[in-house]
Amino acid sequence: MAKLQLGVLGSGSGSNMQSIVDAIEAGRLDAEIKVVLADVPDAKILERARRHGIPCQFLDCSPWKTKLADAAELDCIRILREAGVDTVVLAGFMRIVKSALLEAYPGRVINIHPALLPAFPGIRSWQQALDYGCKLAGVTVHFVDAGTDSGPIIVQKAVEVREDDTPETLHARIQVQEHLAYPEALSIIASGRYRIEGRRVRIG
Ligand code: GRF
Repeated sequence: MAKLQLGVLGSGSGSNMQSIVDAIEAGRLDAEIKVVLADVPDAKILERARRHGIPCQFLDCSPWKTKLADAAELDCIRILREAGVDTVVLAGFMRIVKSALLEAYPGRVINIHPALLPAFPGIRSWQQALDYGCKLAGVTVHFVDAGTDSGPIIVQKAVEVREDDTPETLHARIQVQEHLAYPEALSIIASGRYRIEGRRVRIG
């Protein structure tokens, strides 16, 4: 299989992007990050990309705070295509991508969500799991479809909820698993040894 040509979209710290960079640099993932885009001009994800010599830029999504305007989405697609991206990695990107991006990259847009989906889509899922009294929380890497945090699941990892957990401590342990789950999911995609049957991703 050809090396994955990744485009990463993020809004924040970029620790998941870092885990992908680390996996590539350690030879655990056959991929290259061609470009990193952030909708927040001073997002740490851009700083991390620069540190590794990865092309990166701010994607202006104004005037919206949480929506991805049509013009910004088309701009995003243009940048990804010009960079030679074949797989789009959403890594803490706080906007819902729409059909234009999904049509430009059919079956090639991946997201990570800090919950065992389909439980707790949306924001601050670890807090939702705590409030619900769950004994298990976790992380899901999935293909993106037209819904919110839906789409066929590639990898999940469970995290035990402790009696003394706060939202912060639980989120921190979930993030440790995120950093294993994203490179693992991308390795499956890079291997090409999977097929999607209905909602199920069959691996191997
Ligand atoms: C992660 O918790 C991820 O699951 C969620 O947004 C957060 C991004 O963290 N979608 P980071 O920017 O990768 O550190």
